[in-house]
Amino acid sequence: MLQPCEEVIDFTANIAYEDDILYRHFENIIVKNSDLTRKLVSNQANKTTAHFRWYKYKEAFSSDLVLYLLSKYNIDTGLVLDPFAGAGTTMFAASSQGLGSDGIELLPIGQEIIKTKILIYDICMEDEDIINEIKDFINARSWTKNGENINFDILPITAGAYPPETDKKIKRLLNDIALLNSKTKEVLFFCLLCILENISYTRKDGQYLRWDYRSGRRAGQNPFDKGNILDFDSAFTDKCHEVIEDIGCLSKVNTHEIGHINLYKGSCLKILPTIPANTYSALITSPPYCNRYDYTRTYALENAILGVDKKLIIELRQEMLSCTVENKKKNLLNLNKDWQAAIDICDESHLLQSILDYMDYLKANKLLNNNGIATMIRGYFYEMACVIYECYRTLKPQSYMFMVNDNVKYAGVSISVDLILSQIAEQIGFSVEEIMVLPRGKGNSSQQMGSHGRDELRKCVYVWRKA
Ligand SMILES: C[S@@+](CC[C@H](N)C(=O)[O-])C[C@H]1O[C@@H](n2cnc3c(N)ncnc32)[C@H](O)[C@@H]1O
Repeated sequence: MLQPCEEVIDFTANIAYEDDILYRHFENIIVKNSDLTRKLVSNQANKTTAHFRWYKYKEAFSSDLVLYLLSKYNIDTGLVLDPFAGAGTTMFAASSQGLGSDGIELLPIGQEIIKTKILIYDICMEDEDIINEIKDFINARSWTKNGENINFDILPITAGAYPPETDKKIKRLLNDIALLNSKTKEVLFFCLLCILENISYTRKDGQYLRWDYRSGRRAGQNPFDKGNILDFDSAFTDKCHEVIEDIGCLSKVNTHEIGHINLYKGSCLKILPTIPANTYSALITSPPYCNRYDYTRTYALENAILGVDKKLIIELRQEMLSCTVENKKKNLLNLNKDWQAAIDICDESHLLQSILDYMDYLKANKLLNNNGIATMIRGYFYEMACVIYECYRTLKPQSYMFMVNDNVKYAGVSISVDLILSQIAEQIGFSVEEIMVLPRGKGNSSQQMGSHGRDELRKCVYVWRKA
């Protein structure tokens, strides 16, 4: 095994020293919280919850987590924001409690999920009967018969993603739903989106799509078997029935108790500065983690069906908060000159700078397994500082901001994302009330485990309050 050279030892010792100082600064408010199970803080708890179970957005947290935070911190009036809305968990959970909610989401798949869920809520409120139209459509099973097709093969990376019979049925279905009234069409299209992964040869796996050996794609050394690939007819009709069943429950809710929901489409780095100060009573969010996950690749099946082409995907990847090794540096001051204050705070963060110095050293000496890691980590924290600055500005005084995030590890060094972001928040003006830690942390990516052993990384919910 290679022995680390003296310079590496100096860098890592310096990081450990700065980490220890910051840890001691927050020590009294870093609290293990046994209410915060993995299930609650991930999408798992949504799998059995009406309305939240339709689309399994892997990076989501649960609606129960949002309800838990709203109740624990007595948030029962006003408007709630999620600047990284994903599938809209914060928005719909807050709305179910009568609170208004705004969400900002950049990627088309999240926007489509939120848009269709809003449409379904509207349908229930207006008492329109599209349920019978959906039932008639699924009973007719027109997609099993010969007829016109609509093609969706626009992305090379998704070519051959479905068994041939399924591929044919999707194209037939796309054609036939296009002939329906627009609301019915949108709900049926959404049901199709919800099943794409399960009827395909692929599985979402963080940084990319994994391909099952049955796809015929080159399998490499360890062929992947995703298990049961669902049959199109039953997967689609089951999903439609699930949605119909939940629409039925929603229709029984007193619709006056549902808060207004509003989606902004685009990057929160562009949209947040346009929102007036002191707008929100709470902010509940989970940004992308600093973990190289590439949402634009893992949602390729959905992008293809949504008509998002290769060029737009590349643009979206660059617009996302930096969390992949392909992200280039963003010119933050061009977006908003007021962010100089947030940038200065990052420049002065001793822990962050010690990590960035180490990453730059590793990059210069070709010791990183991907050079983009250094740019990603730098971009992640500087961009997050600007987002936190805007969150502070748009929150009402005394209001809470909650953030779900994981610590990460690169080149053998644990990066305390919780400490760095909380220090940035504190310097922006938040009072850091608590860093709630899940009882069990997270191991590391398999790549990291091989060379550096398994460390537990804190998974946390940060509780910050505007002074
Ligand atoms: C961890 S997920 C949030 C999931 C969400 N809490 C839920 O329960 O569905 C992070 C989200 O941030 C979105 N995102 C990334 N960069 C963004 C940006 N610059 N502006 C707005 N959304 C962004 C991603 O597309 C992703 O949906």
